[in-house]
Amino acid sequence: MTSTSAPQTHGGVGTAAPAVRAEGVSKVYGTGDAAVHALRGVDVAFDAGAFTAIMGPSGSGKSTLLHCLAGLDVVSGGRVFLGETDIGALNDRRLTLLRRERAGFVFQAFNLLPTLTAEQNILLPLDLAGRRVDRAWFDQVVATVGLRDRLRHRPAELSGGQQQRVACARALVARPEVIFADEPTGNLDSRAGAEVLGFLRASVRELGQTIVMVTHDPVAASYADRVVFLRDGRIVDELFDPVPASVLDRLAALEG
Ligand SMILES: Nc1ncnc2c1ncn2[C@@H]1O[C@H](COP(=O)(O)OP(=O)(O)O)[C@@H](O)[C@H]1O
Ligand SMILES: [Mg+2]
Repeated sequence: MTSTSAPQTHGGVGTAAPAVRAEGVSKVYGTGDAAVHALRGVDVAFDAGAFTAIMGPSGSGKSTLLHCLAGLDVVSGGRVFLGETDIGALNDRRLTLLRRERAGFVFQAFNLLPTLTAEQNILLPLDLAGRRVDRAWFDQVVATVGLRDRLRHRPAELSGGQQQRVACARALVARPEVIFADEPTGNLDSRAGAEVLGFLRASVRELGQTIVMVTHDPVAASYADRVVFLRDGRIVDELFDPVPASVLDRLAALEG
């Protein structure tokens, strides 16, 4: 049931099937007395064309869940589906292909190559995969992230916010079914963070991208369409159309 053809999920708002979902997912690190139950039976689905934030106290399992959803980590129990694909049923080679062709990643560290220009960094994954560059799409992504006049700059010549926008453009340009972001504004000041979050939201609204983002920041979460809350490895709450105050209220309720 796996496909290696380029996904066509843009404009996927209203698609019935979720872009990614977890069914009864558990994750245990270590064994015996040292075992840590990071996830304890997570059932959650993420709609295509939506921006969802995952929140919860430190150590609640946010990064573990994101890594399991993205096929970066192997679940101990349960199943993860990217579209229709049961990723636990894939061998290593197919899982690597799935991550490369169907998922995009934005991490706290920008992970740009210092010797390449912004444009070269953005196009690197497509170059490595031997994929053709859709120039019109590239231009649209670059316009959305507001980097048109920075394409020839190297990372050291860009602000932190601009570097993270390059990393977002790099994830977007390959048209992944889902972008997975773990604390993407964690290394940015609030103004640069707002730029990156505004752009992530625009990529959902204007380009139809699906984003799942881990954050501990209620303001960052308020850019999402929906927030799911984790505590002790379980989903314990969710909130639609969040604003910072409503996110803070829910967080206070789970930490209290
Ligand atoms: N590689 C690992 N080995 C052992 N324990 C881990 C590992 N990664 C995470 N954990 C543990 O799993 C739990 C959840 O961690 P994590 O998903 O990073 O939480 P969060 O992102 O919400 O802060 C924590 O108790 C953490 O210490
Ligand atoms: Mg984390």
